[in-house]
Amino acid sequence: MSREKCRVVVLISGSGTNLQALIDAAQSDEADFSISAVISNKADAYGLTRAREAGIDAFAVSHRDYPDRETFDGALMEEIDRHQPDLVVLAGFMRILTPEFVRHYGGRLLNIHPSLLPKYQGLHTHQRALDAGDREHGVTVHFVTEELDGGPAIIQAVVPVEPGDTAEQLAARVQVQEHFIYPLAVSWFSQGRLRMLDDRAELDGELLPRGGHRIAD
Ligand code: GAR
Repeated sequence: MSREKCRVVVLISGSGTNLQALIDAAQSDEADFSISAVISNKADAYGLTRAREAGIDAFAVSHRDYPDRETFDGALMEEIDRHQPDLVVLAGFMRILTPEFVRHYGGRLLNIHPSLLPKYQGLHTHQRALDAGDREHGVTVHFVTEELDGGPAIIQAVVPVEPGDTAEQLAARVQVQEHFIYPLAVSWFSQGRLRMLDDRAELDGELLPRGGHRIAD
C-alpha cells in the first residue's frame, strides 16, 4: 500500500512559474507530495489559473479586504488550515508575514528567494547583484523564520553573471534553477529527510552548511 503523501499548500502572488514546477513534480508517478490548495493574495494572479487547470482548489484571499496585517494573516491561516497541510510553500508570495503566522507554521514553512542569501534580502535582487559587479548570483530555498529572508538555508543554486547581462536576462537564468531546486527541496521535506533545527537545516541527519546544499551550473 502506498504511503500517505505530504499535503502541501502553496501561496502565490503572481505568474506562478515556480508553482507550475511544483505541480509538474507532484504529478509524476514517484511524487511524495500533493498540492491540496493554492492561495493568492491577488485575484488576478495567473498562478490561480495554472492551479485550476491542474484540478487544484485555488482561490484568492485579498489583503485589501482586511484592515491590517494581523487580521489578513489570521484569515489566511484559517483558509490554509482547512486543508490540513504538512507543509506550506511560499512561491513568489510577496507579503511580509506576521510573527504569529511564522510561528504557527514553524519548521514547515518554505520560501524561495532570488539571491544567494544572506546577500540581497528584500527586493530587486538581480539589479543589485549587477550593480555590485558580482560574478555569480543565484537563488536560495530556505525555512521561514521571523527574520525576513533570514531563515535556515536548504539549497542554493549558483548561476554566472555574464558580461552585459540585464536584470531580466539574469532573472531568467536564475529562474531555470528555481524550477529545479524548489521541487527538490519540497521532495526532501516530503520524504521526511529535511527538518529545521534552531538556526540550521538538517538533511538526512546531517547539518547542512549555512548557505544550504549548494549546486552550480
Ligand atoms: C520568483 O523568482 C521568486 O524567487 C521570487 O518571486 C518570483 C515569483 O515568480 N520571490 C521573491 O522575490 C520572494 N522575496 P513565479 O510567480 O513565476 O514563481
